Formats: sequence, structure tokens, C-alpha cells
Amino acid sequence: MSSDSEKISEKIEIALHSPDVFEKKNILGEVLSIALEAHQDINMTLVDNLEHSIGARSSERVDHYARKALDSINKIKNNRINDLNLARWKDYDEIITDSLWIMERRDRTKGHDASYWGNFVPQIPHQLMLRYTRKGDWILDPFVGSGTSAIEAYRMERNAIGIDLNPTILSSANAKLEAIREEKMDNVKISLHNGDSSMIDYEKLLENAGCRKIKLAILHPPYHDIIKFSETEGDLSICPDQDIFLEKIGVIAEKCNKVMSEDGHLALVIGDKYENGRWIPLGFLSMNEILKKGFYLKSIIVKNYEGTKGKRGSEELWRYRSLAGGYYLFKHEYIFLFTKK
Ligand SMILES: C[S@@+](CC[C@H](N)C(=O)[O-])C[C@H]1O[C@@H](n2cnc3c(N)ncnc32)[C@H](O)[C@@H]1O
Repeated sequence: MSSDSEKISEKIEIALHSPDVFEKKNILGEVLSIALEAHQDINMTLVDNLEHSIGARSSERVDHYARKALDSINKIKNNRINDLNLARWKDYDEIITDSLWIMERRDRTKGHDASYWGNFVPQIPHQLMLRYTRKGDWILDPFVGSGTSAIEAYRMERNAIGIDLNPTILSSANAKLEAIREEKMDNVKISLHNGDSSMIDYEKLLENAGCRKIKLAILHPPYHDIIKFSETEGDLSICPDQDIFLEKIGVIAEKCNKVMSEDGHLALVIGDKYENGRWIPLGFLSMNEILKKGFYLKSIIVKNYEGTKGKRGSEELWRYRSLAGGYYLFKHEYIFLFTKK
């Protein structure tokens, strides 16, 4: 604990023991000034509770908020699923708790870029790992592509196993990971494997990586045939039949389930598609396949979607087509979040 925090704790204790409400508030006012000037260990939950305490009318309410302010410095309240300290819950402004995610800009810092057609924004794995993993936990991404989730896992000191059918994109992901490697994080393990996620032996992958159980599986499969990723046999983007595509999503979810810890989560990131003038609810169809494989649905998140590279620059044309054809342009995709049954 820093000397500022110690001083703040001591003063709040004195305020709590004071019998006079005005004196309490005076002391808490001093604490607030120290808190606002301090540089270390000072959190918004502390500041907020001090302000409430000073503004409260009754002595009981003053004490109530003062105790909360004290807890925000001294206590750790944790749900064991993540590293968040709920005694400081007001400090987590960056965490989205609503089911509508509007992400204006892609995070392009340290290791991330948008060069792979069909990659997701790093904020998706970032948000998921903040809520559903702790430092040192393992994540699994069976469609790791350009390595977005693996890079984010590395940055957040989570271990990761990734699989992709495309060896070229895996080499590029490994190169990006190598470029951001820091010696102080040598204990973080990232292993990327080339292969078909519906065929690979997951138990063996985990064993080779030195992982006992997966805490979070992030699935970002092709949205069936919207973007063709390769001609390789087994590639979900060239599945001739939608039913086979859905069956494979189920197979992969089941494989994930077997290697996940009991308190593990699975997130499926997927969008819908149009075919012959019909909206195909690929997201909900895939969600159903996963529900059949030993998972409960926890949340459905709708995220804004700014179109593929292919559509960029031709927005006017697409708007015309939408008006002429009487349909709506996709501006959203889903993140389905599941827990193990
Ligand atoms: C939507 S992209 C995932 C992009 C990734 N989230 C990223 O940010 O780079 C889907 C990926 O699934 C891969 N893929 C398709 N079928 C596969 C299969 N059966 N097993 C493993 N990977 C597969 C493709 O090569 C592609 O990289």
C-alpha cells in the first residue's frame, strides 16, 4: 500500500470514530483533497464514495459511504472468474456491461493491424478476457486467423492456444507475436497450430501446451461463405451446404466443452447473411447448434459492423441496391456468450 493510501485509511478510520458529523465531514474533506492530489493507488470508487459521504445528511449515511471508501483501498472483492476488484467497481469505465457494443475505431496499437480480411477488432477478445479470465488463465481460439485474440491474450498476460487451417496466416500471426515479445512476459505461453478445428485432438493440444483446462473459448468462424478464406478441404467458408457448416460449428463447440473448466465460458462471434434475396439468420442457427452441446446461453451482444473491405468505398452503390431490392444492409453482428452446463 502506498503512503498516500495509508494516510487516507488512517484518516477515514478517525472520521468513522468521531462522534460529531461536522468533524467527520471535515476530516473526509481533507481525505478527498489528499486523494485528488495523490498519484498512486487512488481510485474513482474512493473519490466517488468520499464525495457521497461529504454530501450525506445523516451521520449513518456519512459512515456508510466512508466505509465503502475505505473498502475500495483495503478490500479485494472478487468473483474468481476474473481479476476485477468489485470493491473498486467504479474504476472499470472501459468495461462494457450493455448488450449493444458500438466500436467506432479498431485498436491498432502494439501488434494489431487490420490487414487480414475478416479479422475482428481486438476490443472483442479484450472485453471478453477482462470479464471471463484472470491473468495466467488459458484461452482457446479455434479460428485464430491473424492472431488477434492471441496477441490480445499476450498483452493481457493470458495464455492462448490458437488453431487455423491457413498456415500462411499463422506464420504472419507468429511474426507479429514475436515482434511484441517482452522478456518480462516470458511466462506467457502462446501456441498456434495449423489444422482443421473440427478434426484436431484438443486434449493433445492442451497437453503439449502444458495447459490443464481452458477458461474461455472464442470462436470467430467464417460467416459461412461470405468471405472465402481458402480452397483447403475442411475450410468452413467453402462448406457446400449450410447444414454441414452448422454441424461443424456444433462439433467444434463440443470439442471446446470437453477441455473447458467447469466455470468456463464460450463466445461465438458471427454475423448473418443474405442468400437469394432471403436473410439467413446464421447467428441464431449457429447459437442453436451450440446450445445442443452442453452450454447455457448467458448473453447475446449486438455489435456494430462496418462492412467488409470489399464493400468499403462502394457504400453509395450498396445503398442504391438496398433501396431497389427492399432489404436492409448488415450493420451488426453477434457475440453469443455461453457458460458450461
Ligand atoms: C473470420 S476468420 C477469423 C479471424 C480472426 N478472428 C482474426 O482476428 O484474425 C475465420 C478463420 O477460420 C479459418 N478456418 C476456416 N475453416 C477452418 C477450420 N475447419 N479449422 C480451422 N480454421 C478454419 C480461416 O482460415 C480464417 O482464418
